Amino acid sequence: MNKKGFIFDLDGVIVDTAKYHFLAWKKLAKSLGINFTEEENEQLKGVSRIKSLEKILAWGNKTISQDEFTALMANKNTEYLGYIAEMDENEILPDVQRVLDMLIAKKQPISLGSASKNARTILDRVNLRSHFNAIVDGNDVSKAKPDPEVFLVAANALSIKPEACIVFEDSVAGVQAANAANMVSIGIGSATILHEANFVFNDFTEISDEFLNTLITN
Ligand code: BG6
Ligand code: MG
Repeated sequence: MNKKGFIFDLDGVIVDTAKYHFLAWKKLAKSLGINFTEEENEQLKGVSRIKSLEKILAWGNKTISQDEFTALMANKNTEYLGYIAEMDENEILPDVQRVLDMLIAKKQPISLGSASKNARTILDRVNLRSHFNAIVDGNDVSKAKPDPEVFLVAANALSIKPEACIVFEDSVAGVQAANAANMVSIGIGSATILHEANFVFNDFTEISDEFLNTLITN
């Protein structure tokens, strides 16, 4: 049977953790006297922890010492992990489980390709870790999306050529990374925002088994 590599981003694709990132960054911003909005949070999708804090400081016109920067990142993560600790299977986004189960039934290799350093913790919380043949996250790569590194490492971990990989992504940087890796990019979210993707769906409920079958066979 034809084998493709199916690579899933985590935040915004498998679970909606953007709301927890927002609450944690908002608290941090408030402690610095910075007003952090939901629109600004949108711009942090797919962006690494370090880059996210740099952006928030720039928006608030704040300069801080390296030590303070490190401490703030740790505080934010502790706050974020407090929300993650409360997560369970109910937070898996609609039809993600169906798509994963279908790909597993078709014996397709599946990897995670996420910028998060908390990816394994989150997959454990929602009981999905065993669905993945490989997990590549922010602990395994040094270059952030839109660099293709995370997806190339995932393809390698699955022993599938990049050209035979398909990436599910909700962020612009992630779609660009998939394209740069020479993979099929599938945007999950707004077609206007994710216009660089090869295909775009609002969510997994719009992705039929038939469409998945064509991805496997083509
Ligand atoms: C990405 C999220 O998946 O991971 C970003 O979209 C987040 O918002 C980044 O900043 C890093 O995540 P973490 O869990 O390592 O802080
Ligand atoms: Mg994402």
